[in-house]
Amino acid sequence: MMRKLFLVKGVKVYAFNRIDSTNNEAVRRIKHGISLPALFIAKSQTVGKGTRGRSFYSSGGGLYMSLALKTDDIRIQKLTILAAVATAQSIEKLTGKEVDIKWVNDIYLGGKKICGILCERVQNETNDKTLGVVIGIGVNLTVKDFPEEIKDIAANLGNINRNKLAREITKRITSLLSSNEDFMEYYKSKSILLGKEVSYIQNGVIHNGTALDIDTTGALIVKENRETAILTSGDVTLLK
Ligand code: BTN
Repeated sequence: MMRKLFLVKGVKVYAFNRIDSTNNEAVRRIKHGISLPALFIAKSQTVGKGTRGRSFYSSGGGLYMSLALKTDDIRIQKLTILAAVATAQSIEKLTGKEVDIKWVNDIYLGGKKICGILCERVQNETNDKTLGVVIGIGVNLTVKDFPEEIKDIAANLGNINRNKLAREITKRITSLLSSNEDFMEYYKSKSILLGKEVSYIQNGVIHNGTALDIDTTGALIVKENRETAILTSGDVTLLK
């Protein structure tokens, strides 16, 4: 069952009690030619998607939203960083709680993950034109039983108004996209990896190094002995 409501001026909102994935719905509708921007919100998802083909636990108790935009001139990596900044700032504004960011797309509270972000580009059938981008954000608010495999690393933000948070994040993303505001400094200041020993896998080989910086494209710079690696994607684990 779908309801239509307006949360942010100029953004059409599609709200669902239950859906497969708000990102999937946004992709389907963009391909269908709906007017953008549009926001998709669900109270629960049956196949919530995470990064790298993983699932995102979203059977209720969270904010599951996908913002569909026409923007074409920003790379997905940078868009993910922008969305993480907007989400972290919105959470801090509405709750007063300080959050951290784990490169590239996770938001942490007290050392545990409370939010994940998955951005996607939507192409036309012949793959030569971008029809839009989708910014998918999942925030655990009052999730009751996390599955065994994530129960030690996931946490809840607390019982805050879902629609208010969605509105704040949408407004913040829109304003960051339309201004020249430098959000990289904020992102870096919130990073739990910078300056720390990290581990990552590249071409099947495990590497350990120090996370030095995040460059202007959003890549993570890691130094291992005399070598410097520029990571554009993948899992990075904090060692200490
Ligand atoms: C991750 O942690 O790997 C990213 C998780 C992204 C989850 C959100 S929830 C709303 C939107 N719909 C999805 O299917 N995924 C994103």
